[in-house]
Amino acid sequence: IYLNGMAGTRPRLPTDLTRLEELAEGTLGPGPYGYVAGSAGDGSTARANRAALDRWRIVPRVLRDVHERDLSVEVLGRRIPAPLALAPVGVMSVMHADAETAAARAAAAREVPFILSSASSTPMEQVAEAMGDAERWFQLYWPKDPEVAGSFLARARAAGYTVLFVTLDTPMLGWRPRDLDHAYLPFLHGVGTANYFTDPAFRQGLAKPVHEDPEGAVRHFLGLFGDPAKTWPDLAFLRERWDGPIVLKGVMHPDDARRAADAGVDGVVVSNHGGRQVAGSVGAADALPRVVQAAGDRLTVLFDSGVRGGADVYKALALGASTVLLGRPYAYGLALEGQAGVDHVIRCVLAELDLALALSGHTGPGSLTPGDLVRESP
Ligand code: FNR
Repeated sequence: IYLNGMAGTRPRLPTDLTRLEELAEGTLGPGPYGYVAGSAGDGSTARANRAALDRWRIVPRVLRDVHERDLSVEVLGRRIPAPLALAPVGVMSVMHADAETAAARAAAAREVPFILSSASSTPMEQVAEAMGDAERWFQLYWPKDPEVAGSFLARARAAGYTVLFVTLDTPMLGWRPRDLDHAYLPFLHGVGTANYFTDPAFRQGLAKPVHEDPEGAVRHFLGLFGDPAKTWPDLAFLRERWDGPIVLKGVMHPDDARRAADAGVDGVVVSNHGGRQVAGSVGAADALPRVVQAAGDRLTVLFDSGVRGGADVYKALALGASTVLLGRPYAYGLALEGQAGVDHVIRCVLAELDLALALSGHTGPGSLTPGDLVRESP
């Protein structure tokens, strides 16, 4: 960057990723901006996510040989070049016309696993095709209709998605005042329904084909999107139909981590959905240590919610997460510059993580422990 600066070129986007949000506000209209930036209630959970990460402070070590570093980690049975993946973010065509395809391409080029949301604005097969043979994972909002759920899993498998993330914190949408005040939900504008509208099992449940009655199709989608009646024994359905790793996203309580391990899944994501679901929830980084302890060696623990840079990734790793998912920052990168914007965000996070490790005496994520942090009193 500095050498480019000598030639008169500066980064097009800020390298402090917290500044992307205000810039994206100018690009996205009020509805989409409110949808991406907004969270549940008065925003207290989103603030708690930041506060929890901020309270943990890195305690650097010196005079250790850090001239060669390796950020790669083993996660869910595969080695990835860095402990980072792109979180499932739905409805990306409200952010940029190139939508999921652009984000997936940026991730693929940097070998960062991309988790495609089942609520994507691009059919999962199309996104897979854009990614070549890069690592791709699939996130399921577990639909009420078992035929549709089964069909999604079969399609994802056939399209080369290897790990299944099942999001459990969203059997229904949270109370999101910005969206309520705008009376705006992307799905009602036909965004985020592509996987459903192209699905044979979904289409079978329609009275009329999608193109004849798009509104009826949206209503049908809203009726089966989530299922608040699901309980732990239902996981057997997914286990029977998915032979790769299964990760439960949105696990915040240690008892739920134990139940997840008992149910035979492979991992959990400690996440409160970026504060978009339960208002007044505990910050995700404050929930992480107890879940890590409950998981022991039975579960792989991943983390998201509130991560805005490499230092936050570092802290989550030190607290026991094996890989960290990045959410809003890359959505803003996409909104601002498409694929190049997502690439910028990935590179910033990885560079900052690499520096955070080196400057605190580590050559890779493997040597981080909770002892590398102290927690300031609230
Ligand atoms: C999300 N998230 C999400 N999660 C999921 O499992 N499926 C999805 O389709 C979506 N969609 C989605 C859209 C938008 C606009 C946002 C901001 C978030 C949640 C996401 O995976 C992740 O948990 C949070 O984004 C993490 O919090 P931060 O880093 O954004 O604060």
